[in-house]
Amino acid sequence: MTFVITTPLYYVNDKPHLGSVYTTIICDSIARYKRLAGEDVIFITGVDEHGLKIQRTANEKGIEPKSHCDEISEVFNNNWKNWNISFDKFIRTSSKNHEFVVNEFYERVKASDDIYMGVQKGWYCVGCEEFKDNPENSSTYKCPIHQKNLEWKNEENLFFRLSKYQKEIEKIINEPSFIEPIERKNEIINFVSRGLKDFSISRTNVSWGIPVPGYDNHTFYVWFDALLGYVSAISADATEHSLEKSINGGWPADVHFIGKDILRFHAVYWPAMLISANMKVPKKVFGHGFLTREGQKMGKSLGNVLDPDLLLTKYGNDPVRWYLIKDISLGNDGDFQDKRFVDIINNDLANTIGNLLNRTSSMSRKWFDNKVPNNEKILSENKLENSAKIAVENYIYNFDNYKLDLAANEVLSLAINTNLYLNDNQPWLLIKDKDNLPLVKQIIYNVLESTRIIGLLLIPLLPELSTKINEQLGSIYREEIPWKQQLSWGLLVSNSSLPKPTPIINKLEYEQHL
Ligand code: MSP
Repeated sequence: MTFVITTPLYYVNDKPHLGSVYTTIICDSIARYKRLAGEDVIFITGVDEHGLKIQRTANEKGIEPKSHCDEISEVFNNNWKNWNISFDKFIRTSSKNHEFVVNEFYERVKASDDIYMGVQKGWYCVGCEEFKDNPENSSTYKCPIHQKNLEWKNEENLFFRLSKYQKEIEKIINEPSFIEPIERKNEIINFVSRGLKDFSISRTNVSWGIPVPGYDNHTFYVWFDALLGYVSAISADATEHSLEKSINGGWPADVHFIGKDILRFHAVYWPAMLISANMKVPKKVFGHGFLTREGQKMGKSLGNVLDPDLLLTKYGNDPVRWYLIKDISLGNDGDFQDKRFVDIINNDLANTIGNLLNRTSSMSRKWFDNKVPNNEKILSENKLENSAKIAVENYIYNFDNYKLDLAANEVLSLAINTNLYLNDNQPWLLIKDKDNLPLVKQIIYNVLESTRIIGLLLIPLLPELSTKINEQLGSIYREEIPWKQQLSWGLLVSNSSLPKPTPIINKLEYEQHL
């Protein structure tokens, strides 16, 4: 089965920030999980290159929008490679294939009689590339998100008949699994209940965009163009019939992951556009929360923007992934705190998981000739086996329901339980009496087996650390055997060799200013 997952297509006005890294890491984990579960995944990311905002950014730099976009798109592409993101498609909305798709799509919408010429008047935020609902209620006329002045627009634009789709949209947004999390769904239901208004899909003052066929100085509104990037990404290499190739190649998306500020575009405008073009709507739109830093909104003016590159070079990929996935409940806002970050990595990854593996492997090597001991199966009730079974079940349930923080916590709980088991049984005391040898073998086998399962469960979450755990246990993971099958208890081979342990993760030092 094909599973299509998307990140937002990021604006290329600036390099990636922590918010974009967050969404992309979440999608990467889910994509890895689905691949391990045997699904045929298309993981789409990319960049949103057109529009007034990008045109102005390039102008300010004194260069052509195209060269600006070439440069920043490359930064994004390389950035995701540096973060070890397993994307399958990287779409640029300035690409030729994308333009084909937008044109073909527009023709379909026009054929449904959903396009007409009108006059668009209103207050516009260039940062959001969006007309604001009720700025007359605001004394400042500033965008609440960007804190920048809104601009008055009054021009002839082509409109899309969104109002025609009121009933269909109401039905879609009320479907139980279409919008997550639930609080976001209620916001959208309220918005739609106020009545949908047609919106403009072309601009006359923006040259950096896809030209609208038949209307000389009109380019497509950047959102009309950008949302289609999710579709064109699927047929990225096609040169003709691109829309059809995308439709046959995996559309509709299973899930769009986005931030809460752009939910309306994805959960309301986008499905209506798709219905108009006789296409299927995405199965789910997940609006995650916003990241703050030490409790404050991150912003250039506040001087507290956390550069993800700095985090990556200083601490590595897995620590950042662990913090963002495990410490933030997906859907809620989350806070990045430097001290908490260091504490969590040291406690969870270095002490609880890293030390567990290291000390057990050392004991096993010392007592059992550098090998995994024999699985003696002498205990009638195997507590650790039960813990592992429960952890695996809960982990799968949570991952399937996009509760990644809970899935990560299941792995951590199993590691904590395994440490407790080791400390309760104290094999280092038991070994002093030769009669206890079978029991010690059983205990050590259990602990190593539990760490094997921990390593497997970490593959989608922490690809690098899980590889190191696997190597430390003698490279026992078999790609050719279904991953879920390998999560069963007891598959660690008795008397197999254990390589010399090295620390799988180093402890971090806390520094006041990152
Ligand atoms: N280009 C549009 C998306 C088009 S999708 C067809 C866009 N781009 S963006 O670069 O401005 O934003 C990308 C994503 O970053 C959005 O999902 C937005 O919600 C998210 N975030 C922006 N600031 C954020 C945080 N502080 N924290 C988490 N995510 C944040 O919008």
